[in-house]
Amino acid sequence: MKSYSPYSGIEESCYVLGESGIFYPGVRIENVSYPLTISAIQAAVCSCLANGDKPDRFLQEKNPSELQDYWIRKFNMVHDDAEPIPKMVYAPLIHKNRPVIEILRELTGNAVTPHSSFPVSALIETKQGYIPGVNVEVSAWALGLCAERVAIARAIASGFNNLESIVVYAPKAEFASPCGACRQVLAELMPDSSLELQHGDGTLSKYIVSHMLPYGFTSGALKK
Ligand code: THU
Repeated sequence: MKSYSPYSGIEESCYVLGESGIFYPGVRIENVSYPLTISAIQAAVCSCLANGDKPDRFLQEKNPSELQDYWIRKFNMVHDDAEPIPKMVYAPLIHKNRPVIEILRELTGNAVTPHSSFPVSALIETKQGYIPGVNVEVSAWALGLCAERVAIARAIASGFNNLESIVVYAPKAEFASPCGACRQVLAELMPDSSLELQHGDGTLSKYIVSHMLPYGFTSGALKK
């Protein structure tokens, strides 16, 4: 597993073992705007919850995550320091043989929204299939992840680098469009990909990810 750490150079990765027996990989995903960095444990726990599973054990692979204690305590996880030997690793790919809107609708049922009751689903298209994401809310609001970021965190943790497009669906919104933080994260990791907004009436709007963040913050000077 390889984290995306061009600014710190710190490799951070882990697995969260769900009650189902599935191991959810998570890696650190930094952003040029440092506060938007996703930690490995945050990515792994959110991936687990977004799959309707419950975090049970935490297996650290490389370097401890930021706020690791919050996640371990919050979900009462057993912290395993031994070298993880994952058996059933979560495979995020969904076959492309069904209409996107059908998959997105079904996915919203997995959204974890105890605070907002506002489900969002996202699909990242790769050559091999779709990578799903739904929004995950936790007691510390700032530590949850939007659907778009759950999908991209899964894509990076599973080593995909051909992220062709991302489709977003929010059934309760009049007009659903990614928040500023998601635009910043997507613009760094898949700037030239298309961003598609799937509307409730079945229509679709298409954009280019980088066009959704004009005059955004970028600085090569920060890279190591
Ligand atoms: N949300 C997303 O999943 N994506 C966005 O781009 C905007 C907001 C979620 C986060 C939170 O669970 C809920 O919508 C309300 O903010």
